[in-house]
Order: sequence, then C-alpha cells, then structure tokens
Amino acid sequence: MNRPSAVTVIGLGYVGLPLALAFAAEFPTIGLDVDSARVEELQKGIDRNREVSGDEIRNSSASFSTDYSTVANAEFIVVTVPTPVTESNKPDLSLLESASAMIGARMN
Ligand SMILES: NC(=O)c1ccc[n+]([C@@H]2O[C@H](COP(=O)([O-])OP(=O)(O)OC[C@H]3O[C@@H](n4cnc5c(N)ncnc54)[C@H](O)[C@@H]3O)[C@@H](O)[C@H]2O)c1
Repeated sequence: MNRPSAVTVIGLGYVGLPLALAFAAEFPTIGLDVDSARVEELQKGIDRNREVSGDEIRNSSASFSTDYSTVANAEFIVVTVPTPVTESNKPDLSLLESASAMIGARMN
C-alpha cells in the first residue's frame, strides 16, 4: 500500500492532539478543531490539557487549523470529537454528526 500523502485529524483534544503528532512523525498531517482559541494555542506550542509538551508540538511537522476546506486534500481523515452520554445514558453523537456533515460538504 502506498503511504498516505495527507492525514487530517479532526478534534484536537485528549485523543486527537497526540494522535495528530504521532501521524505527523510519518505523514504530512493537519489537525483541525472548531475551537479557534485551541488552534491558536497549539500554533504557539501550548496544550491547555498539559498532555503534550511545548517542544513536542513545536518540533512536530503537524499544522493546526480551523479551516475545514483542507479536508478536500486529505487521504485519511480521523475524527476524534467528543461523544458524551446523555442524562439517560444514551450516546450523544451530535458532534460526530456535525463533524461528518462538515467533512461531507467538502468531499465533492
Ligand atoms: N479522553 C480519553 O481518555 C478517551 C479515551 C477513550 C476514548 N475517548 C473518545 O475519544 C473521542 C474524543 O475524546 P477526547 O477526550 O479527545 O475529547 P476532548 O473533549 O478532549 O476534545 C475534543 C475536541 O474536539 C473539538 N471539536 C468538537 N466538535 C468539533 C467539530 N465539529 N470539528 C472539529 N473539532 C471539534 C473540540 O473543540 C475539542 O478540542 C470521544 O469519542 C471519546 O469518547 C476518549
């Protein structure tokens, strides 16, 4: 199998940020998040979750963006947005559905 030419990770939280950095060690990788403050922090090498060090972020080739138009160029897309449970313990998939709709709108 050919190596992917572009990976996009959507949702740069506890799961998505380290995943994006791991992909970026091997493949061109973009991390997307709807939280522009989060993206600006990551562009400065700051992880508010204190899960990943500034050096790990700054030394990574990953780029961080809020611009969903970049998914049109992605060969692999990994979605890591929150999937909380409702008060009745049902999975709340609304954020996953929203992210999927935003991806689908750019996959013509
Ligand atoms: N955190 C854990 O330890 C853990 C463990 C196992 C599984 N998971 C699962 O991994 C998934 C992600 O969890 P997490 O803890 O990383 O979440 P998180 O809350 O830490 O981060 C999610 C990120 O997604 C962003 N986001 C929300 N909607 C978005 C959208 N439409 N487009 C782009 N970005 C969007 C948020 O701004 C946030 O930065 C969930 O399904 C969770 O159940 C998490």
